[in-house]
Amino acid sequence: MGDQNSLPSISLPLFFLLFLLPAAQCGVTYDSKAVIINGQRRILISGSIHYPRSTPDMWEGLIQKAKDGGLDVIQTYVFWNGHEPSPGSYNFEGRYDLVRFIKTVQKVGLYVHLRIGPYICGEWNFGGFPVWLKYVSGISFRTDNEPFKNAMQGFTQKIVQMMKSESLFASQGGPIILSQIENEYGPESNALGAAGHAYVNWAAKMAVGMGTGVPWVMCKEDDAPDPMINACNGFYCDAFTPNKPYKPTMWTEAWSGWFTEFGGTVHQRPVEDLAFAVARFIQKGGSFINYYMYHGGTNFGRTAGGPFITTSYDYDAPIDEYGLIREPKYGHLKELHKAIKLCEPALVSADPTVTSFGSYAQAHVFSSESGSCAAFLANYNPNSFSRVMFNNMHYSLPPWSISILPDCRNVVFNTAKVGVQTSQMQMFPADSTSLMWETYDEEVASFDDNSLISTTGLLEQINVTRDASDYLWYITSVDVSSAEGFLQGGQLPVLTVQSAGHALHVFVNGQLSGSAYGTREDRRITYTGNINLRAGSNRIALLSVAVGLPNVGMHYELWNTGVLGPVVLHGVDEGKRDLTWQKWSYQVGLKGEAMNLNSLDGTSSVEWMKQSLTSQKQQPLTWYRAYFDAPAGDDPLALDMGSMGKGQAWINGQSIGRYWSLWAPNGDCNGCNYAGTYRSPKCQSGCGQPTQRWYHVPRSWLQPTQNLLVVFEELGGDATKISFVKKSVSGVCADVSEWHPMIKNWHIESYGQPEEHHKPKVHLRCAPGQSISAIKFASFGTPLGTCGNFEQGACHSPNSHSTLEKKCIGQQRCAVTISTDNFGGDPCPNVMKRVAVEAICSSNAQPLS
Ligand code: GAL
Repeated sequence: MGDQNSLPSISLPLFFLLFLLPAAQCGVTYDSKAVIINGQRRILISGSIHYPRSTPDMWEGLIQKAKDGGLDVIQTYVFWNGHEPSPGSYNFEGRYDLVRFIKTVQKVGLYVHLRIGPYICGEWNFGGFPVWLKYVSGISFRTDNEPFKNAMQGFTQKIVQMMKSESLFASQGGPIILSQIENEYGPESNALGAAGHAYVNWAAKMAVGMGTGVPWVMCKEDDAPDPMINACNGFYCDAFTPNKPYKPTMWTEAWSGWFTEFGGTVHQRPVEDLAFAVARFIQKGGSFINYYMYHGGTNFGRTAGGPFITTSYDYDAPIDEYGLIREPKYGHLKELHKAIKLCEPALVSADPTVTSFGSYAQAHVFSSESGSCAAFLANYNPNSFSRVMFNNMHYSLPPWSISILPDCRNVVFNTAKVGVQTSQMQMFPADSTSLMWETYDEEVASFDDNSLISTTGLLEQINVTRDASDYLWYITSVDVSSAEGFLQGGQLPVLTVQSAGHALHVFVNGQLSGSAYGTREDRRITYTGNINLRAGSNRIALLSVAVGLPNVGMHYELWNTGVLGPVVLHGVDEGKRDLTWQKWSYQVGLKGEAMNLNSLDGTSSVEWMKQSLTSQKQQPLTWYRAYFDAPAGDDPLALDMGSMGKGQAWINGQSIGRYWSLWAPNGDCNGCNYAGTYRSPKCQSGCGQPTQRWYHVPRSWLQPTQNLLVVFEELGGDATKISFVKKSVSGVCADVSEWHPMIKNWHIESYGQPEEHHKPKVHLRCAPGQSISAIKFASFGTPLGTCGNFEQGACHSPNSHSTLEKKCIGQQRCAVTISTDNFGGDPCPNVMKRVAVEAICSSNAQPLS
């Protein structure tokens, strides 16, 4: 009692202040300028790495690379459907070991931004929701609906509790400095009106009520209520301002590339443009940027969203799907991060003053009271250089670029001047013995009719499968009289099938008649094909295949999949026969799936055929099995599935994902200019080729010998050509100008020759265990082109090749100073020169005899 009596002597606001202060000192808060950690405003560079898209043994290496690349934060979604595959039964093991992932980030010394969602979009199956959630009575996703809100709160609570009990929030001394609730709800909220607004307010209150002690973010949600921070996602976010002046300017998804869909091309985003976008955001006063993705990884199993999202989620990210550094993207961003960090004192303490130089160039200057000054000189013109006078100095700004001056004088970085090398990566044959295949035929609609569900009419696919399998058989029969005209030499009848998606294979009396697919934009399929019917009873079996459930779109949980009809037979004596409303039987999944043929335990439950495949036709619906020893070395591995059609593959029972050799159209893959506004169709590759040919096989899934590889092929392929490949550096290129931004700028006249030790150098570096075996191209002068297709320009030193060879052959790495002395004279005085080199990297290991 006595203790309590002393309290009223402190006024209430002061009491709260005293209570809050220590927490703010060691916790996380924010103000208009930045997120504040332990009392300090921070410019934070973050990158998305999704834990189930790599294996636990890769995590530490990926996070360490992120740290070396200048990141402060790792951002990840939380994957509800991976964690709660059936109601109340949880999985936090293996790739879903969220606590281990966060502790790994902590061990490496970075922070975490935990995007709980639980709606996560992310090109992930069903946007992260478990499919069972759709069948909760009375549910409606992502709106003001009690069953949904209860489920969402339950899962959010579960995750928050788990983090709290492991002391993982920064308020507890852990690495989690930020969380996220929902994901890009803005467009839905606008469309739903009152219900949407009520839901946003509820979600914010629910999240804040969890008492994590760290701020919450809602991305792409302009109405995010206080204290939620609303954040921007996009290719550029410099036009964004938070909804309240006291919130920091945050970019939760700076898209480093783009995702891929089967049948599409592969998208790249030039690093010059990505760096430009980031610098633009920072110069406007942005203080948090997250690369989506920093490592994209792999959609193992059936986790890809959809439909039609590929198994590879490489995303053209700075760390590639396999965990290898992608140059020049990684290195150039690393240099950018260094430059931004040099500006941090000025950025967090001052607002920018903007000066324009004509219509295309601007200076943003952050000049603090304590005397720090940082400047960003921008040229938005995509076509030409801009020469500006700033603080009495001349600066030359390449097109579509920003120069960063951490002291308001010296340029340490320009977004369009890539100093780091380009690494060319290639798939090489892995040292492994050839695969000896055995086969097992999956019969067409093989289950005994009595064990099948039968009904009148056509059923929606996911209602039947509950996504337990990609496959659903729709089986019916058609009786044909021997008097039918087409049996007397007339034209074959035509079958038309309307399906809501995603892929369809039509079998008539056990034979594949044809296939059809939707697209991501329009999932619907109209199949039309001649069919071979005989007198008497004919069995029509439609194999409807889901290729990832939708992950985005208004109430996508209500979108249909599968054969909903009509199914009509044309060209029979009665004209046409509508099969839609006759009796249909349903088989969920394949017989081989039911027997677990893909698993170590189940694989022996059938007799596999040993005969050589070369004598065999390429059969649809075939299981293949082979045992193999782990390929030597430690380069990342992949399976080359280019000879196969469509299906799934497993290693020691673990699914490496769906494969599909669907071809990308012949479009515009002729390179692209970094300058100008980027959109995902801009820089494509892979035109006229299968979208994905290589499928990542994590090394940690292998044992030294006797590994089980199982492939299920839907269409028919040539399994003899399946092989293991390994990914490594095949060559490196550098393209460095004799005038480097580190030495003020590129003004030869006004500054004279730099000191020898300040002269720029060409750095080449092969992977560890490799050395430079040849110089494929070298030119000191005015070379043209890019890595892989350099050409000599009007000015070229004849000594270029020998100079590079002398310094580099046989070395893992080398550096050559760009000076006329080094190249035996000046090939063209008074012209600004560059050195372009392409070198071949070879493995030091002796080839196998
Ligand atoms: C965003 C979304 C992400 C991801 C991205 C595209 O709109 O928030 O989850 O889907 O688009 O890769």
